[in-house]
Amino acid sequence: MRDRIILNSVDLTVASGESVAISGPSGSGKSTLLMCALGLLKPDEGSVLVRSERIDRLSGRRLLRHRRESIGVVFQSGELLPELTPVENVAVAALLDGVPRAEAFTRAERLLADLKLPTDATDTGALSGGERQRVAVARALINKPALLLADEPTGALDSATRETVTDLLYSLPDRWNCGLVLVTHDYAVARHAQRRLLLQDGRLTPAPQRAEAECGVAK
Ligand SMILES: Nc1ncnc2c1ncn2[C@@H]1O[C@H](COP(=O)(O)OP(=O)(O)O)[C@@H](O)[C@H]1O
Ligand SMILES: [Mg+2]
Repeated sequence: MRDRIILNSVDLTVASGESVAISGPSGSGKSTLLMCALGLLKPDEGSVLVRSERIDRLSGRRLLRHRRESIGVVFQSGELLPELTPVENVAVAALLDGVPRAEAFTRAERLLADLKLPTDATDTGALSGGERQRVAVARALINKPALLLADEPTGALDSATRETVTDLLYSLPDRWNCGLVLVTHDYAVARHAQRRLLLQDGRLTPAPQRAEAECGVAK
């Protein structure tokens, strides 16, 4: 269906080291916006630049390469293979980027140790939800992305682990000099961002101060 406009005159620039939280009602286009940044969806008009490259004009191998080199993504859940170890899950992302095997595994081990996550032979599926989500963050970071995208990254977590994962995500722009775009329904998560935006009726605007209005959840 091409007659419905999901994103309309959306204008967003994210700087290195900056964190931006985007909230908005379900179906407002938050995931669609991230898909545009990933080059998975091409907007009918306008442009999408990631590290100065028009990602909306890339396709095939060049798109895959630019995405792998420039962008890390964390979803609500599901990007990890439960039967692999955390090290394997994280190293895979580097292997796909062409990093030699030994280096990919060393990098993955260092990153996981830095995030206080197991580097032994434990299956990823045996970890707690919060630990798994931190492994997913490590996986997103392994190729040193300029841009980190997170789509409801705490949506499947309880409140205690939600805080740990939130703190980790917001520490990354500073430590890794990447831009962070975090999509969340949850004001407790959004409020820690340097910039908070609301996506509604296709428009991206500064979020109002009121928590309920910001997250677009009328209850
Ligand atoms: N693959 C698709 N094909 C057609 N419509 C879609 C597709 N994915 C999402 N949509 C529609 O686009 C709108 C925005 O969806 P989405 O970006 O997933 O919203 P959000 O992440 O804010 O909940 C919704 O109305 C949804 O139904
Ligand atoms: Mg979504």
